[in-house]
Amino acid sequence: MVDVILGMQWGDEGKGKIVDYFAKDYDVVARFQGGPNAGHTLYVGDKKIVLHQIPSGIFHEEKINLIGNGVVLDAVTLKKECETVAGFGVDYKKNLFISERTHLILPTHRALDKASELSKGVEKIGSTLKGIGPAYMDKTGRNALRVGDLLDKNFTTQYIKLRMKHQRLLDNFNFAEEITSWEEEFFEALEFLRELKIVNGEYFINDKIDAGKRVLAEGAQGSMLDVDFGTFPFVTSSNTISGGVCSGLGIAPQKIKEVIGITKAYCTRVGSGPFPTELTETTGDYLRNTGNEFGSTTGRPRRCGWIDLVALHFACIINGVTQIVMTKADILDGLDELNVCNSYSVNGEETGNIPFRMDRLNIVPQYKSFEGWKTAITNIATFTAMPAQMKTYIEYLNNFLKVPVKYISNGPGREQLVKV
Ligand code: GDP
Ligand code: IMO
Ligand code: MG
Repeated sequence: MVDVILGMQWGDEGKGKIVDYFAKDYDVVARFQGGPNAGHTLYVGDKKIVLHQIPSGIFHEEKINLIGNGVVLDAVTLKKECETVAGFGVDYKKNLFISERTHLILPTHRALDKASELSKGVEKIGSTLKGIGPAYMDKTGRNALRVGDLLDKNFTTQYIKLRMKHQRLLDNFNFAEEITSWEEEFFEALEFLRELKIVNGEYFINDKIDAGKRVLAEGAQGSMLDVDFGTFPFVTSSNTISGGVCSGLGIAPQKIKEVIGITKAYCTRVGSGPFPTELTETTGDYLRNTGNEFGSTTGRPRRCGWIDLVALHFACIINGVTQIVMTKADILDGLDELNVCNSYSVNGEETGNIPFRMDRLNIVPQYKSFEGWKTAITNIATFTAMPAQMKTYIEYLNNFLKVPVKYISNGPGREQLVKV
């Protein structure tokens, strides 16, 4: 049996915290897509940790954490992260497994990512520059290196061939020095990677499922950044939606049971691209400062705005979301009025659907207003004790989306989660 936790917006919904909370109920936690562009924050006691490559179940003893074939892996980031978690007493050599089919991000992929952004001018994606796009391009281009290739004696020859291919695309850029220094770290990290548990991920996970083990698939990014369904071209390069679990782990669709969608009580986006409910004035600044909305991977300020039910409804459909966890509700505590976008006006026509090429349209979000709760909710432990205004807000979401909000997160700590 497999459950999924994934983001319903543009990433950073709080997936790391929620995966860490629910991991206790599972035997395996598995990442199925994305790479070190992800930054998943969780707390161990009062210590904050941001994970980029390792699944967020790693702090639970006796839980298996699997990096699936759908992920693109930066060995240098992984090595650093393993060292960090080891400092907390985590035995990663025992609990961390990596699929041999997982693709490697090469130093030249990072350089190509930079080159691509530099040549785009005003149309920049706002990539995290971790080499994600180029690594997935080589995967679908069928000319790439995977973790299993590390055990092949021809690995270095293959690497040099790829490097030369990439070099030709980098002729107009002056990245040689950077690449050489990245390469040094890269080869050191590969030695480290070779010593980890490299497995045939698809048999590994299906054997566990057949043995009655419970698997939690952890999404990275969010549905609106999905390469097919997101705000293309301002998206990432993988399928972030629940369908990505099947191809990213080798799991059949009928094995998936719960799809737990995570949304903030408002909305954020880091990087460029359309964001209809963005607030560029005081309320946006208020959300950013109160919610400490700065990227976990790049430190960039996140753009902030009201919750967008058109986007959330879309995410419910394409993922088959069965329940919702709403995070960062406490950030709305101080606001007199809350807005909820329930349709878009596009060229004077109202629609409840996500349009094609949102970036080329003038979208005016239509709002319904709610009274703010004006109460500090961080220490409220039950939904019954939550303010009436919040209950009204949640009830509206439930009715609109026809998927229930099952938990409300009211603080960053592991246990700060209220069952509805
Ligand atoms: P992820 O990428 O989806 O895992 O999310 P990030 O870790 O990038 O960003 C979420 C941020 O919000 C992190 O700094 C979390 O510690 C924090 N966070 C998560 N849930 C809550 C919450 O309910 N309240 C508050 N105040 N912070 C939260
Ligand atoms: P988590 O898992 C928020 C954004 C980037 C950029 C676009 C493409 O922490 O939610 P990429 O590096 O993938 O080529 O960047 O996607 N992006 C994220 N935004 N959270 C993330 O991950 C993101 N991963 C990528 O900012 O706009
Ligand atoms: Mg994040």
